[in-house]
Amino acid sequence: MDKLERLSFSIEKKLLGRFEKLFKQSGYENRSEFIRDMIREKIVSEEWEKNEEALGTITLVYSHHGNTLSKKLTSLQHKYHSAIMVSTHLHLDSHLCAETIIVKSKADTIREIRNMLASQKGVYHASLSLSSTGKKLA
Ligand code: NI
Repeated sequence: MDKLERLSFSIEKKLLGRFEKLFKQSGYENRSEFIRDMIREKIVSEEWEKNEEALGTITLVYSHHGNTLSKKLTSLQHKYHSAIMVSTHLHLDSHLCAETIIVKSKADTIREIRNMLASQKGVYHASLSLSSTGKKLA
């Protein structure tokens, strides 16, 4: 860990009250770590806005019927084999499948992969969780 610096700053009373409320709801035990993580959140959202290298997790829920969709989703993922780090398939029940796919690439490419998979007929839900390669967060 880098050397720690101490800061002091001014903040409006009302805004401080809102901060304290957020802190209490957060489950964090100390304000410093809470503030450091707020800064990290901002850094990660900037990485995504500026289309930098990022890490994303796509979760798909789709119909297993016919088996052709499963094959199509796999073949689409092969087009991005260098970006897709890992994928895990779960059989949710006799009709439904879920898949989580961890992608490391430029932010726009990750969004493109998510949208390409989401738009296939039979895919009922596709979420994208935005994370980071972590290089700017330590
Ligand atoms: Ni399945």
